Amino acid sequence: MDDKVRLVLIYGSVREGRLCDSVVNWVREEIAQRSEFELTLVDPARLQRPAVDDEAAVAVRHGYLQQLARADAFLIVTPEYNHGYPAALKQLIDEVPISWEARPVAFVSYGGQSGGLRAVEQLRQVLAEMHATTVRNSVSFSNAWEQFDEQGRLAQPGHARSALARTLVQLNWWALALREGRRRSPYERVRG
Ligand SMILES: Cc1cc2nc3c(=O)[nH]c(=O)nc-3n(C[C@H](O)[C@H](O)[C@H](O)COP(=O)(O)O)c2cc1C
Repeated sequence: MDDKVRLVLIYGSVREGRLCDSVVNWVREEIAQRSEFELTLVDPARLQRPAVDDEAAVAVRHGYLQQLARADAFLIVTPEYNHGYPAALKQLIDEVPISWEARPVAFVSYGGQSGGLRAVEQLRQVLAEMHATTVRNSVSFSNAWEQFDEQGRLAQPGHARSALARTLVQLNWWALALREGRRRSPYERVRG
C-alpha cells in the first residue's frame, strides 16, 4: 500500500487567545516536511452544535465528522487544565465513538511544569475504552508560554523536533499496521 496515512490533528483547546494555535502551527510545519501523511485539522471550537437552520455551520460540522470517520491516525495537541484535559476534547471523543476504533493516537502536550503529561495520561485511559491504541512517545512543552515567542514561533526547536519525528514514525507504523488489520478483518468482529 502506498497511499498516504490520513492523519487528523485535533486542537485540544477552544479557549479565546489559546496557545494551541502556535503549537498546532509548529506541528503543521513539521508535518508538511514529511511525505507519509495527508493532514486534516479538526478544531472543536468550530464544532459547536449549530442551529439547525444555519446551513453553513451544519455543513462545516458534517465535514469535520466525516474527516474523523475517514482517519487512519490521530494527533491530539492538548494543554493541561487542572491536572486534566479540556472538556471540549472529551465532548469530541464521546461524540464520534466509532472513529477511534483500531486507530492509533499520538500526543503533543503543553502546560506548566508537567508539560501537559497528566492530561495525556488521562487521555490514554479514555482512548483505551474507545478501542484506540496510543503511541508510546510524545512531545511535551513545559512552561510552554516561555518556549514560543510573540510571533508564535518556537525559540529552540531542536529537542521538540526530534521528539516529534520519533512520535510520528511510531504513529505511522501503527497507522499502517492497523489499516491493514482492518482491511483483513473488520474490527466489529472482535469488538464484542
Ligand atoms: C483553567 C486552566 C487550568 C490550568 N491548569 C493547569 C494545570 O493543572 N497544569 C498545568 O501545567 N497548566 C495549567 N494551566 C496552564 C495551561 O496549560 C496554559 O495556560 C496553556 O497555555 C493553556 O492552553 P491554551 O492557551 O491553548 O488554552 C491551566 C490553564 C487554565 C486556563
